[in-house]
Amino acid sequence: MLQLPNVIGHRGAAAYAPENTLASFRQAQRRGATWVEIDVKLTADGVPIVMHDSSLKRTMGIDRLVAETRRAELPAEVPTFEQAIACFEVLGLGCNVEIKPCDGREIETAVATVALLRHRWPQSLPAPLLSSFKDACLAAAREHAPEFLRALLIDELADDWRPRAEAVAATGVNTNGARLAPGRAREIKQAGYALAAYTINDPGLARSLVAVGVDCIITDAPDVILAALSAD
Ligand code: G3P
Ligand code: MG
Repeated sequence: MLQLPNVIGHRGAAAYAPENTLASFRQAQRRGATWVEIDVKLTADGVPIVMHDSSLKRTMGIDRLVAETRRAELPAEVPTFEQAIACFEVLGLGCNVEIKPCDGREIETAVATVALLRHRWPQSLPAPLLSSFKDACLAAAREHAPEFLRALLIDELADDWRPRAEAVAATGVNTNGARLAPGRAREIKQAGYALAAYTINDPGLARSLVAVGVDCIITDAPDVILAALSAD
């Protein structure tokens, strides 16, 4: 059964350090998060790395596609997935691994991600949760490594969420909290799924989402949301 923490640091703690970096993971842990969310995609030579965008431009100032960049050519600040896992082991952090493929690389990205998890995920940490906007990634993950729990990742939920979840045997749904209707949240919880909402940095919104059944808030500022949820 999927047991989510009540707060997950988004891209580490993106409010406090460059997103998806080791510094961001350290900030998340320092600010009380027990889990972080990261985005995983492949370099040109097939190495899983932690990076949100398909280009290096926004975060690294380099106008180049990740899918056309070899691991050896990446800036040192961009962690490989393997380096990130080693960091989580030191920090004691769990992880929601978002499989974020570059276009056309859905299957190979999912397969490389779960292969690395099988070889490197520490026994000392809680089992990771896989998520993806691409159902094909979750289907491939299930086929190659069914032991890792999966969550559908959907920006705006529609009536087809349940058959989509069943098709990949997901046990969780991660969705955009700003677009989540209370009735839909209740429906998902009544159906027995874990429910996470991203990317919530507003304390009031976090509290109202929890009030309608959301189990887990994914946030850039884990300290702010932890404080909001512990206050009554
Ligand atoms: O996994 C939750 C959230 O990270 C999904 O959106 O674009 O921030 O990866 P994005
Ligand atoms: Mg993400």
